[in-house]
Amino acid sequence: MVMKQTFFSFLLLFLFHCTTSVAQAPIPAPLPPPTPPTPTASPPAPPLPTKSPPAAPTKSPPAPLVPAAAPSPSGPTNVTKILEKAKGFSLFIRLLKSTSVADQIEKQLNDSNNGVTIFAPTDGAFSSLSSGVLNSLNDEQKEELIQFHVLSSYIPLSQFQTVSNPLRTNAGDTSKYSFPLNVTAYPNSVNISTGLTHTSLSGTVYSDGQLAIYQLDKVLLPMNIFGAKPPSPAPSPTKRKKENNDSTTDDTTAADSSTDDNVNASGAMSLTIMTIQTTVLSGFAMILAIVLSL
Ligand SMILES: *[C@@H]1O[C@H](CO)[C@@H](O)[C@H](O)[C@H]1NC(C)=O
Ligand SMILES: *[C@@H]1O[C@H](CO)[C@@H](O)[C@H](O)[C@H]1NC(C)=O
Ligand SMILES: *[C@@H]1O[C@H](CO)[C@@H](O)[C@H](O)[C@H]1NC(C)=O
Ligand SMILES: *[C@@H]1O[C@H](CO)[C@@H](O)[C@H](O)[C@H]1NC(C)=O
Ligand SMILES: *[C@@H]1O[C@H](CO)[C@@H](O)[C@H](O)[C@H]1NC(C)=O
Ligand SMILES: *[C@@H]1O[C@H](CO)[C@@H](O)[C@H](O)[C@H]1NC(C)=O
Repeated sequence: MVMKQTFFSFLLLFLFHCTTSVAQAPIPAPLPPPTPPTPTASPPAPPLPTKSPPAAPTKSPPAPLVPAAAPSPSGPTNVTKILEKAKGFSLFIRLLKSTSVADQIEKQLNDSNNGVTIFAPTDGAFSSLSSGVLNSLNDEQKEELIQFHVLSSYIPLSQFQTVSNPLRTNAGDTSKYSFPLNVTAYPNSVNISTGLTHTSLSGTVYSDGQLAIYQLDKVLLPMNIFGAKPPSPAPSPTKRKKENNDSTTDDTTAADSSTDDNVNASGAMSLTIMTIQTTVLSGFAMILAIVLSL
């Protein structure tokens, strides 16, 4: 089963790689380049919806729609301090500390000029998770969950319309069943989707040209931890072959367990590679023969 999934994810990765490199010529830059020198004041940003949808639970604090004034840049930016001051993020702060993601952020802010963007779920967001969800996670998963809310570049509100999806978070892998995060800017909202969680930014907590913190009323649940696992390899190729009576071996293996399909599939793959190698080699030999005969 493990082999099968591994193989399948390789195949997916491979196919994805092929299609993307064919479809879009250059590898898309993961994020827009750092902003041109921004004044210390917060950058111009499109207004967020002032009327928050009725969905907003009464528990969550009113969204500060106007970025907090950037504090005097004395010393390194202290993310937990900013969140403490903004109020309503105590669970997120606790998780930032316990997973040591706060330290990672501090290090990123200090060591790189790309800045950091944080999607900060409110206490209401965490408490609306069904009970036990957080407790069911192990330490590694908790860290990934929090890293999933952090981008290693500064993205002002106005730049969300130019980002290329999926965005890479600090949790890493953006592939379909890992940690993809899509952000889409609309005239009146910036929507965000993980494939499981669909929400929109409900306010700007902080923005200073290096660090942006946006408020979320939902915790972003990554596929990797909360999603369905990749579907088992679709049996369609085997079935089609069977229908077409292409090969008799397929008929026999189709009756076997799915694990065997995988073994056969990888066998078939290495056979293909061998065939390609042979073809290349014989082609080379032919060219050599032609050259020699001249
Ligand atoms: C950041 O602020 C918090 C409290 O606001 C404090 O406990 C922590 O030590 C500060 N971190 C740094 C690196 O100054
Ligand atoms: C911040 O960065 C400087 C060099 O860029 C380094 O010397 C210093 O140790 C860093 N501080 C922390 C707290 O990482
Ligand atoms: C994210 O965007 C990419 C590219 O547009 C798309 O292929 C993918 O399905 C989207 N994923 C989600 C979860 O919206
Ligand atoms: C954006 O997200 C909000 C919920 O946060 C939803 O009501 C709205 O329909 C979304 N807009 C689009 C275009 O998906
Ligand atoms: C495939 O072979 C079976 C017998 O082995 C035959 O009954 C069936 O008609 C064949 N199907 C096709 C599409 O050739
Ligand atoms: C396909 O799997 C079956 C069952 O494990 C095995 O007996 C057979 O040799 C395999 N065929 C290939 C081509 O790997």
